[in-house]
Amino acid sequence: MNFLVTGGAGFIGSAVCRHLCANPAYRVTNLDKLTYAGNLASLRPIENAHNYSFAHADICDERAVLDILRRNDIDIVMNLAAESHVDRSIDGPGAFIETNIVGTYKMLNAALEYWRGLSDDRKSRFRFHHVSTDEVFGDLPFDGGMFVEETPYAPSSPYSASKAASDHLVRAWHETYGLPVVLSNCSNNYGPYHFPEKLIPLVILNALDEKPLPVYGAGANVRDWLFVEDHARALELIATKGTPGESYNVGGNSERTNLAVVETICDLLDIRRPRAGGKRYRDLITFVTDRPGHDRRYAIDASKIGRELGWAPSENFDSGLTRTVDWFLDNKWWWGPIREQRYAGERLGEARKEVV
Ligand code: NAD
Ligand code: TYD
Repeated sequence: MNFLVTGGAGFIGSAVCRHLCANPAYRVTNLDKLTYAGNLASLRPIENAHNYSFAHADICDERAVLDILRRNDIDIVMNLAAESHVDRSIDGPGAFIETNIVGTYKMLNAALEYWRGLSDDRKSRFRFHHVSTDEVFGDLPFDGGMFVEETPYAPSSPYSASKAASDHLVRAWHETYGLPVVLSNCSNNYGPYHFPEKLIPLVILNALDEKPLPVYGAGANVRDWLFVEDHARALELIATKGTPGESYNVGGNSERTNLAVVETICDLLDIRRPRAGGKRYRDLITFVTDRPGHDRRYAIDASKIGRELGWAPSENFDSGLTRTVDWFLDNKWWWGPIREQRYAGERLGEARKEVV
């Protein structure tokens, strides 16, 4: 079976490529533009694998995508390429509209043209799997409620609005043109190779540098955390066994306030890499101005994927976070150059900076 993974040099896409390549019956083509978030070093464990190849391309380039689909005889597209950081979407929404909305539209056009040229047998097996986020559902109150697949979309940020728009396009290409699509909406991921603009890797690396650990507002916002390798397994199941036209919610059943997440990281580091002079990492926690439009809480009801596809996470938050902290302690070769050359941890998304 031949997979095209877009965004395979990113955090989740690289986990998907590493996971799929472990199966010798699969061939994996990774299509990535290599933006600031793309990093071929994340593919080092599989870069010489017989069943892995890389194509440097932009999902907005419909002709290039069509050519890659044809040259690699693709059976399953997994579309992960996106601008993914909420704070950057506040500073500059333009790239989010371009890649997440226009790019998904171009991917759908290329996939439709390719699919229409397949034999009946291959046509029925083809899938376009669009990977999305729970943030499309918007804001939950602190005291109850969970996102199910039928929850109406109510995105709050330019990022989540652009992902919501892309999900609608994917459904429309199924209803209107019959393209066999599946969708998934997942909660916050964390784990190895996570770009250090997101909360968990940012806090680990700032702590190791003895820098302030920025907590937005009072740190009371709640996210549901999923270990990235559990997400990769879920995505393989959805792409290969999901029902066309359906969407699947994926989550870790691990709700935590942001402050609790940061404190847990501090406590782990106190054991693994104690500070000089008996100081505690918690002393570095700094409350900063809140993010505009900050959703209070996300919580995923993942019972459908459990019931229909037999998926369950294998890591809980404590075991997954311990693995993550240990990975960052052991892999400075990966994050050192990013902190030095791409992003040093400065505050993003306090207010819109892009001028029209
Ligand atoms: P990421 O920012 O780490 O990686 C995105 C990748 O896409 C990068 O390798 C980048 O180079 C590539 N890319 C960006 N624009 C491109 C373009 N125009 N053409 C080709 N490649 C392009 O993102 P991530 O955290 O790995 O997220 C992957 C997907 O999963 C996204 O669609 C995101 O919305 C979704 N998602 C993420 C999370 C999360 O917690 N990170 C949760 C749920 C869903
Ligand atoms: P983030 O990792 O950016 O993911 P998302 O916005 O997609 O949920 O942020 C996770 C939570 O942590 C979110 O509620 C914002 C908060 N946050 C901080 O408190 N401080 C930070 O420096 C960052 C980056 C995020």
